[in-house]
Amino acid sequence: MSRLKIAVLISGGGSNLQAIIDAIESRELDAEIKVVVSNRKNAFGLERAQKHNIKTAYIGVGNYKEISLRHRALLEVLVSESIDLIVLAGYLSILSPEIIKQFEKRIINIHPSLIPKYCGEGFYGEHVHEAVMLNQEKESGATTHFVDEGVDTGEIIKQERVAVFKEDTAKTLAARILKVEHHLLVSTIKAIQMGQVKIGLEEAKND
Ligand code: GAR
Repeated sequence: MSRLKIAVLISGGGSNLQAIIDAIESRELDAEIKVVVSNRKNAFGLERAQKHNIKTAYIGVGNYKEISLRHRALLEVLVSESIDLIVLAGYLSILSPEIIKQFEKRIINIHPSLIPKYCGEGFYGEHVHEAVMLNQEKESGATTHFVDEGVDTGEIIKQERVAVFKEDTAKTLAARILKVEHHLLVSTIKAIQMGQVKIGLEEAKND
C-alpha cells in the first residue's frame, strides 16, 4: 500500500499522537499525518502537532455552536485532505453517522482496557482505570478496534495485556497502560499500512 494519509483526532495530551509522529519520523511507519483535529481548543496535542509542522484544526463548541455544524466541518476537513485512515487517539467526542458511513472500516480507536471489559458509555480515561482498581482486577490492558456506530463496539484489531498490582493506583496503572498503548497503536497502523489488516480503502476507491 502507498503512503497512508492519516487524520488523528484528539482531545487532550496527545501522547498517542506523539507516538505516531515519532514512528513516522524514524521511518518505522510509512504514513503521513495530514491533519490533527481536536474538539478542545487547548489540547496539548495541538501544540505537539504544530511543533512538527502538521496542520491542525480545532472543531468544537467554541467555534461551531451546533452539533450539526461541527459534524459537517469535520467531514469537510477529512474529505478535503483525502484521508485514508482516521485514528481516534484519546478523542472524547462522538462522530456523526455520516462520517462513520463514509469512512466505514477506515476509522480506528485506541481504548485503555481489554474490550469488552470497561468500555462503552462513561468508560474513558481515568474512569476506566478507577473501575479496574475498584474491582481488584489482576489484569487490564489496551485495545485497538475499528469504529462503528456504537461506543467501543467495533471489531477488535489488537490487544495487549498489562498486569495490575495491589499497590497500583488508577494513576500508576494509567501510566503503565499508556506506554503499552503507544506501541500497540503504532503496530496497528503498521499492520494496516502493510496490508496485514484490511481496511475499507478498496471499497472507497470504487465509489
Ligand atoms: C489514552 O489512554 C486513550 O486510550 C484514552 O485517552 C487517553 C489519551 O491519551 N482514550 C479513551 O479513553 C477513549 N475511550 P493521550 O492524549 O496522551 O494520547
